[in-house]
Amino acid sequence: MVHAEDLKRRAAAHALTYVTDGMRLGLGTGSTARHFVELLAEKVHGGLTVLGVPTSEQTLAQAVSLGVPIATLDEAGPLDLCIDGADEIGPGLALIKGGGGALLREKIVASAAREMIVIADATKKVDVLGRFPLPIEVVDFGVAAITRQVVEAIRSAGCAGDITVRRDGDGHPFVTDQGHLILDAHLGRIPDPAALAAAVAQVAGVVEHGLFIGLARRAVLAGKDGITELEPGSF
Ligand code: A5P
Repeated sequence: MVHAEDLKRRAAAHALTYVTDGMRLGLGTGSTARHFVELLAEKVHGGLTVLGVPTSEQTLAQAVSLGVPIATLDEAGPLDLCIDGADEIGPGLALIKGGGGALLREKIVASAAREMIVIADATKKVDVLGRFPLPIEVVDFGVAAITRQVVEAIRSAGCAGDITVRRDGDGHPFVTDQGHLILDAHLGRIPDPAALAAAVAQVAGVVEHGLFIGLARRAVLAGKDGITELEPGSF
């Protein structure tokens, strides 16, 4: 049996073939992106010149520790490519992201890149998004009121389910790199991701949500039978 970590690393290694000398790269967050940064560091030590823009404090620390040259997004300017993981990959390469809590910076960095490539093990591909709880980043003022509004927004988009405030290992509310909280919406099925994204984004107090629609141009999926590449139209 192939271990999930091996598959993530294979997807990351394949994505590295899209990286060329001189690129300014968005560096994702999570266990799959972590493999990518490790492999990228090996290339950098072999002479590849890149500039990385990390999407989280976690990835920043990893990149620095491995000697990958980094810059802030504003220092780097427009990016050539962003490589990141995902929690679910659905039709049209619509994604759920934010399982690691980095969705806000991830979406800003992906939006600033000419192209986004998603890397994952093949189990992340789904026919309908929503089994993975949708992360919604909110300000910490009036969370109960915001949650009620989010429930209404979700209902208006044809979805329903429990919403929980994410907690860390100590039981305290999880706080993002930007100082916000995360609501996890346990929806089961999201029949119309674009409608849900639009409805949730309108709630006052919602900073960002984990639906990434129209951002990924390519998905690199590693399964036991090898690598599959998907584009939005070839899902
Ligand atoms: C981080 O906030 C997330 O968006 C990650 O990209 C996502 O959770 C995928 O993580 P793994 O690669 O660890 O599954």
